[in-house]
Amino acid sequence: MESIDWGKLPFGYYKTDFNVRSVYKDGAWGELEVSSSEYINVHIAATGLHYGQEAFEGMKAFRGKDGKVRVFRWEENAMRMRRSAEGIMMAEVQDELFFDAITSVVKLNEKYIPPYGTGASLYIRPLLFGSGAEVGVKPSKEYTFVVFCGPVGPYFKEGFKPVAIQLVSDYDRTAPQGTGNIKVGGNYAASLRPASRAKDEGYVSVLFTDAKEHKFIDEAGPANFFGIKGNTYITPKSKTILPSITNMSLEQIVRDLGMEVERRPVAVEELSTFDEVGACGTAAIISPIGKIFDRTQNKLYEYGTPGVAGPISTKIYHTLRGIQEGEIEDKHGWNYIIEI
Ligand code: PLP
Ligand code: COI
Repeated sequence: MESIDWGKLPFGYYKTDFNVRSVYKDGAWGELEVSSSEYINVHIAATGLHYGQEAFEGMKAFRGKDGKVRVFRWEENAMRMRRSAEGIMMAEVQDELFFDAITSVVKLNEKYIPPYGTGASLYIRPLLFGSGAEVGVKPSKEYTFVVFCGPVGPYFKEGFKPVAIQLVSDYDRTAPQGTGNIKVGGNYAASLRPASRAKDEGYVSVLFTDAKEHKFIDEAGPANFFGIKGNTYITPKSKTILPSITNMSLEQIVRDLGMEVERRPVAVEELSTFDEVGACGTAAIISPIGKIFDRTQNKLYEYGTPGVAGPISTKIYHTLRGIQEGEIEDKHGWNYIIEI
């Protein structure tokens, strides 16, 4: 294995030694198999390829100062993957199989877990898709569940530095009564065009507005949005936002710090009233936002001192990372220690 420059890793695919797989057939999941191939042999008529019967998850494992490896809130990811499966009529992966898969893949790839203090972590990517052949539009009878992992650095190259994002109203990632609240591939396909345009225009990501009226803040690209106003943490409530496990954790962290939490519709105009804003998610962790440009209204919202994250965002970022790396008491029992 070539030596890895842990501190310079981007958020991207990194080949490791093993992944794990299981196939659902005749109404039951098969044994978990270890593979060293990066490829899957897929039927040409698999529903995952044709009709988007596909969902994925993302979580991270961290090496602490004490050398222990902690995976953050995996039960929540397992539950969300079941909701995704239910939403697009796929076979559900039960906790036991999910747990075996993620712990096996981490243990098998131990040498790829970034050392403590490098800012990097091991990203774990479960994937579930319809692998049986159908040509009519109907759910597959067969499913494949794969989990791979790899070391990653910050999602946005800025790391924990304020980024500029673009508010869009001329594209939606999902329909008002669609699949935005589950983690299915189609939502991400729909986000590629506006995200790519935003990048071309100088922004790291898009901030979607609600798909019905385009008046409210929705998803922040591959992350949830939050704003801080005085002593209150505010995050949009919408049926098209993916329930972020990071956001849920931050809500608890701010409550523990004595702040208030509001989860409610957030009108676009309210952007001018926040002290701090940010995006949060497993990949993004907390990404402070310094600028939001409303592309349709040609209006710029700016936050804080350029290049510097706000004080509350900084505090909650360090608290979350501290818990994940075992330096701050895990009083809500969010970490699972993988014995390696
Ligand atoms: N929103 C979207 C669209 C995402 O893809 C993600 C990433 O999983 C999130 C939000 C953040 O969710 P979590 O904090 O559970 O990773
Ligand atoms: C995550 O935060 O885990 C994500 O899935 C975001 C993105 C890479 C799709």
